Amino acid sequence: MTRNANEYGERQRWFQETLRAAGLPGALLSSPISIRYLTGFTSSNSMLFAGASGSELFTDPRYALQIEGEAVADKKTVEGGVLLNAVAASLRRRRIRRLGFEGGHLSQESYQQVNEALEGRTELIPLGRDIERRRAVKSPSEIEAIRHAVAINSEAYERAMKRVKPGLLESELAAELDYQMRKLGAGAAAFDTIVASGAHSALPHARPRTVPIKANALLLVDMGAQARGYASDMTRMAWSGKPSRRAVKLYNAVLRSQLEAIHAIRPGVTASSVDLAARRVLESEGLAELFIHSTGHGLGLEIHEHPRIGKSEACELLPGMVVTVEPGVYVEGWGGIRIEDTVLVTGDGCEVLTPTSKELRVL
Ligand code: GLY
Ligand code: MN
Ligand code: MN
Repeated sequence: MTRNANEYGERQRWFQETLRAAGLPGALLSSPISIRYLTGFTSSNSMLFAGASGSELFTDPRYALQIEGEAVADKKTVEGGVLLNAVAASLRRRRIRRLGFEGGHLSQESYQQVNEALEGRTELIPLGRDIERRRAVKSPSEIEAIRHAVAINSEAYERAMKRVKPGLLESELAAELDYQMRKLGAGAAAFDTIVASGAHSALPHARPRTVPIKANALLLVDMGAQARGYASDMTRMAWSGKPSRRAVKLYNAVLRSQLEAIHAIRPGVTASSVDLAARRVLESEGLAELFIHSTGHGLGLEIHEHPRIGKSEACELLPGMVVTVEPGVYVEGWGGIRIEDTVLVTGDGCEVLTPTSKELRVL
């Protein structure tokens, strides 16, 4: 049994209840994240039936040992060949007439295969976003995992930044950041690490290049660790040499925007009001046009998940949600400035989990 067996059991009971409320006797889940969330199982080939009659998790023989040790499910089925055949046989035995499926995940091709395998006797009904919405509110053990990822992230940043010296390539710094995260216990980087110097930092999702980090220029580092399955996300800015007046002015505006957005975070407020708090500061500085993305996003098993902290996001923040706050301004031909923390919504406000200093770092 895994350490979190109770948590997975509880999630499956919740999901059964959700299906019952939707009038569905069962659902077939195909997204690896949903399967991991409900059972703890991590594989590249699995499907989960969940329903009133219990859960059944399917995988192939490569994962036979892993499913035993890792997964929580009422029944575990390991079958070679096309996984869907085993799934369909089980569903036919269960005589499921109405079956929920993840419309946002199952491809048209897989949908057709499921339909054919069930010989047209089962109505397939797209599920709502209940799992995504529940995943947005983290349990204490999930919050612990995110704290761990955040700690690795910040420590790796400190270690790697000490190694920045003239001539270091953007790609070399990105590799160093990844290496340090892995060395500190991360399973992987939570996304492709961004290192962008000079004008290249005007691309919010810049790819590190094989060019030296520029002197007397901005340096943007956006990195995340994935540890125990959970992500962190942080962006910090540095300047090699004495920062220009323009850099200091824009940096202070983005910092004030970020702090105002963090200040707005508490249970019951809408995600859009947090976005607005960030946007207002940049507007007052005449920089609104340069802020070309939303203020943040939820994170957890995935780097981007519900809720989006955006202009038209009516979702209310709840204690236990973990979101990023990352306003930025981007000037073509000059560069971009973004400051990003991972933030936990608490019972009466929020806690910034990221411990890294937000001063413009001088290299
Ligand atoms: N690095 C991706 C993001 O900040 O959302
Ligand atoms: Mn982010
Ligand atoms: Mn980021």
